[in-house]
Amino acid sequence: MDIFRIEGPVRLTGSVRVNGAKNAALPIMAAMILAPGKSTLKAVPHLLDISVCNELLTSLGCKIQRQDNGNLCIDSTVVDNPVGDYEIVRRMRAGICILGPLLARCGRAEVSMPGGCAIGDRPVNLHIKGLEALGAKIHLKNGYIIAEAPKGLKGKEIFLGGSFGSTVLGTANVLMAATLAKGRTVIESAACEPEISDMANCLNRMGAKIAGIGSPRLTIEGVKTLKPTEYQVIPDRIEAGTFMVAGAITAGEMKLENCRINDMMAVVDKLRNIGVTIDAMNGGCVVCRRGKIKPADITTQPFPGFPTDLQAQFMALLSLADGNSVVIEKIFPDRFMHVAELNRMAANLRKEGQAVIVAGVKKLIAAQVMASDLRASAALVLAGLAAEGTTIVNRVYHIDRGYERIEERLSPLGAKIIREKE
Ligand code: EPZ
Repeated sequence: MDIFRIEGPVRLTGSVRVNGAKNAALPIMAAMILAPGKSTLKAVPHLLDISVCNELLTSLGCKIQRQDNGNLCIDSTVVDNPVGDYEIVRRMRAGICILGPLLARCGRAEVSMPGGCAIGDRPVNLHIKGLEALGAKIHLKNGYIIAEAPKGLKGKEIFLGGSFGSTVLGTANVLMAATLAKGRTVIESAACEPEISDMANCLNRMGAKIAGIGSPRLTIEGVKTLKPTEYQVIPDRIEAGTFMVAGAITAGEMKLENCRINDMMAVVDKLRNIGVTIDAMNGGCVVCRRGKIKPADITTQPFPGFPTDLQAQFMALLSLADGNSVVIEKIFPDRFMHVAELNRMAANLRKEGQAVIVAGVKKLIAAQVMASDLRASAALVLAGLAAEGTTIVNRVYHIDRGYERIEERLSPLGAKIIREKE
């Protein structure tokens, strides 16, 4: 297993390009199941999760090829094994989003129930509720969700909100299934995340009829068939936010290329309150911090609120604030694996139920820490850039799931991160 050896503190200056969004690319790849033929996706990042998704689609019958120019070609002419195998789905929870498109295309799908993970329980009741509303018969057998709709799906009005708000992949699943259902579907309390809008735009390009994109009410007029397409995935707002925090925590000056700050207003607003300057420029932005880090209160919410996927990274930043902050996690109440690890680096964090009280400290001190999930791991890398001494981050495969060669991309800006074998 690889580890990162990070020397700090450093000041990051220079420019970095944000990749295509993992969380848009994954459901869009699943959407290709709906349109038999060859599609081309651009700006799909080279990540572990994308490789697992390739493996999953290949196991269904698709043929996938990464071209020399980086484009991903997905040939879904044949989908003859509508089974999401446990051995693949357990490695990547987004595997669940083949359920809707497989059901719509094949009239049947068997997908392994995804387990819990480091960020919490992660139920799929809303995915099932939405697909049942479209007429699917669903039961569980040997840990698999068996969904059947031999006579096809039928449009319906569906309320998809849950106790924690909307569901991102649940919306993706029901939306994809509804594109080929008979008649009109209305998804109320749909997720408004830009990744869902990106998928919906891609589906429309394939011939779907989706209205209300970006709003909590999606209206879908079912069509008989969808056609293959060529589509470019949006920039990754979570990677962009992570880089912004890198600039902020190191008192650096970073130019982010390929970044849509309109998709990140909650994040940009919080950073500005913290004392970070963010100036939009053509296709990106410049991030700079000169003064002290001011404390802030953060509550994670569905889009357009502050994203849970940046909670850990901001906690690393607020650890060094000049005062006390409160971070409340409202999407995944157990997503605090980074708290104990940041405290190993001399942060002063105290968990109280769904909240963490962050008492700012003057400096972080390097330590040996353990990556536990993707975003928690990113927080440890950020802390390592600012901490005094050599931080060792173990199990960096978690980071590789969502950030492409992060060490190589931050090194030209002054980061001292070396990947080593354990
Ligand atoms: C997506 O997960 C993302 N994953 C997550 O990113 C992200 O943290 C999350 O959305 C929230 O923004 C991908 O896009 C691949 P949800 P998803 O269904 O769709 C509850 C990362 O770091 N819920 O929107 O699985 C659930 O427990 C990852 O890149 C139900 O109750 O999340 C949670 O409290 C991690 N029943 C809330 O809804 C359901 O059926 C939101 O979860 C489904 C979800």
